[in-house]
Amino acid sequence: MHHDQPLIVRFRRFLPVTDATPIVTLGEGNTPLVRAENLPARLGVPDLALYFKLEGLNPTGSFKDRGMTLAVSKALESGALAVICASTGNTSAAAAAFAAKAGLTCHVLLPAGHVALGKLAQAILYGAQVIAIEGNFDVALDMVRALAAGVNATIVNSINPFRLEGQKTAAFEVVDQLGRAPDYLLIPVGNAGNISAYWRGFKAYREAGLAAGVPKMFGFEAEGASAMVRGQPIKEPETVATAIRIGNPASWQEAARAASESGGKVDSVTDQEILEAYRLLARCEGIFCEPSSAASLAGLIKHLKLGTIPPDATVACVLTGNGLKDPNTAMDLVAPDLTAVPPDLRRLREVMGL
Ligand code: F0G
Repeated sequence: MHHDQPLIVRFRRFLPVTDATPIVTLGEGNTPLVRAENLPARLGVPDLALYFKLEGLNPTGSFKDRGMTLAVSKALESGALAVICASTGNTSAAAAAFAAKAGLTCHVLLPAGHVALGKLAQAILYGAQVIAIEGNFDVALDMVRALAAGVNATIVNSINPFRLEGQKTAAFEVVDQLGRAPDYLLIPVGNAGNISAYWRGFKAYREAGLAAGVPKMFGFEAEGASAMVRGQPIKEPETVATAIRIGNPASWQEAARAASESGGKVDSVTDQEILEAYRLLARCEGIFCEPSSAASLAGLIKHLKLGTIPPDATVACVLTGNGLKDPNTAMDLVAPDLTAVPPDLRRLREVMGL
């Protein structure tokens, strides 16, 4: 009914906006919650009710658009002329797109050599000033904090309070689409903002009487970047899932509370588990997400085996970004033989085994 409306309009009563707030929108939100038809049997849990929230279908291909519509609208409202962020790629793509729409300048600092190709192309084509910095995301975020202090540029990383307020709308949608809160909500963890935002959203919906319960929140870091699991920052985080290659999550405390208050957990999954889940999603369900997104399914597989998550639960896995953002990881994983074959029927039948 209201689903074509901008998120800011649709969920206005839950968001810090007034009549004076301009609405910068690209058609974000209202993403599908798709039921897995093949995976439960494949995983040996046929009674599992498994859903995927396809956040890669947002306008710039990731969940970041939910927070960015609000952060950029509020920046415009406050008279800012520029926005600035550090990013592993998706935040910069979203910031650049919303800034373009709003007529703001956008500056982004990216960890050199560790941003997926599609994300880099997006930020550049949307017209942002893109700077590759010698250092990882954590270093880039420190530099952004220092840079923004001296200039009239609004930081649109998730340390901007409006980002997580916008992102909590995804939890509202999950409840609306499912007709109730799932038993478990599984989500990748990088800078730890999104898990915090979902938890805010589920609690707000329950308080408003729009959901009877809340899910247990399970967040998954990549093992080589699992600061929360290890209980200390990691100086040189490493993982194939570059979106969550973060060693000192900004929303660490709030994310830890989300897990503990809900009866869930922040855990880690290995790169191998991530890539297996990434491939399974594509082959069993026809879903192409980015590697970091598959951490949620990898975590589900791990916790089904551990018995933490029962085999007949209702589970929602958040798939945070679109697989097309990172074509190189898909190609490297599958390494297809693309040697050209002459257009000769007999030869083709032979090659194709038909
Ligand atoms: N999945 C994707 C696709 C992401 O891009 C990110 C974070 C996460 C998961 C983790 O979310 O940080 O809220 O815990 N990307 C940020 C960026 C860091 O710069 O695009 P989080």
